[in-house]
Amino acid sequence: MAEAHEGREAGPARLASVLLENGALTSDWLPAYEAVPREAFVPDVFWPGRGGARQGRAIDRTAEPEAWREAVYSDRSLTTQYDDGAHTGPEPGTSPSCSNSQPTMVFSMLATLDAAPGHKALEVGTGTGWCTALLCERLGSPHVFTVEVDPQNAQWARQALRRKGYAPTTVVGDGAEGYAPAAPYDRVLFTASVRDVPQAAVRQTRPGGLIVAPYAPTYGAGAVVQLTVGEDGTASGPFVGGASFMRLRQQRSNRRHTREYLAGNDWPADAVRSRTALSPEDVGDWLPMFVLGLRTSGVFPWAEQYGDTGAYTLWLRDEAVTSWATVDYDPDVTEFVVYQDGPRHLWDEVEAAFAWWTEQGRPGYARFGLTVAPDGIHTPWLDSPLNPVKASAREGLVWPTPPVA
Ligand SMILES: C[S@@+](CC[C@H](N)C(=O)[O-])C[C@H]1O[C@@H](n2cnc3c(N)ncnc32)[C@H](O)[C@@H]1O
Repeated sequence: MAEAHEGREAGPARLASVLLENGALTSDWLPAYEAVPREAFVPDVFWPGRGGARQGRAIDRTAEPEAWREAVYSDRSLTTQYDDGAHTGPEPGTSPSCSNSQPTMVFSMLATLDAAPGHKALEVGTGTGWCTALLCERLGSPHVFTVEVDPQNAQWARQALRRKGYAPTTVVGDGAEGYAPAAPYDRVLFTASVRDVPQAAVRQTRPGGLIVAPYAPTYGAGAVVQLTVGEDGTASGPFVGGASFMRLRQQRSNRRHTREYLAGNDWPADAVRSRTALSPEDVGDWLPMFVLGLRTSGVFPWAEQYGDTGAYTLWLRDEAVTSWATVDYDPDVTEFVVYQDGPRHLWDEVEAAFAWWTEQGRPGYARFGLTVAPDGIHTPWLDSPLNPVKASAREGLVWPTPPVA
């Protein structure tokens, strides 16, 4: 779709037409979009995300003003921090830890939040402040509260907000705690992904209020969920579409290196060898990965690439560091070699989860939902809360809570 807009000068009008055309920007959010220029919330140096000519290496506004503007008014996320600020230099760091989110995602989430004048909103993950400013424009600054864990990010956003005349309550702290002094909220928006919806967010939302969050199980692929809080303190609702967000800092997975699983041995050590007809390619798209995340527990994938051959090894590991599996993908074969080690047979779990999804007719995001009970138990479901999606570990196995990374 973006191609149709190529040739037009990079700017807010071009990006607006992309967002209107793909449906992310709704007419009720258009005035806020027009009043809050994205460029006012983007630092001079950032690493542009996927989807454009320039990707990866940082763009510096001073050196490349046109490339900078082109990227700012493209439908791409712009990474503004790697590795919690420890990374510097033009090359990308290891893990993105702050970004000005992809505009399509920002406006889809705002539409899902259904925030309107008269609402009081809490945002978790101030980031660059762009989304905060959009909320201020729509709801009025006194009705917007935003929490950011990283003091540097918070400071930068606060200045940008002030320069544009917005004065929300900005808090430096762990957004998983919410912000109790201003509760209850009509709307709570997470702009960092969660694998557990923090209980504070549920408690601080009024009955009938909405929580919108990118929810991503340990497997990694996430989707935006829209939860309605009930009188009894339960929060429940549907997923609306796939989403890729950086994690809430305190909920990062315990991802240990493969050598810790091999315990000093060379791969494949004494793992059990088998073959599978299920291609790692079939389980590698975002939607199946999201479903695998709902149906497995504490498992995460990683692809070890081998140059440009197209071949790779899919690694599966568990957070408890008890089990691992590998599947060798080769574009020229139809059966793939599997090794599994440890008490859990992780590839078998993934295969079973994929088979279950296939038996259900490969449902998309919108047929799934999530219920968070007042005691914090999370239950994903298919079509109805009465039809829970059971994960491998929820069917009898209990895994220890991983330490916070
Ligand atoms: C994708 S960025 C937010 C994008 C932002 N809404 C914007 O418009 O620019 C995610 C942000 O969440 C912050 N974050 C991560 N964990 C957090 C936590 N526990 N509490 C508050 N903020 C957190 C990160 O530091 C980062 O700035």
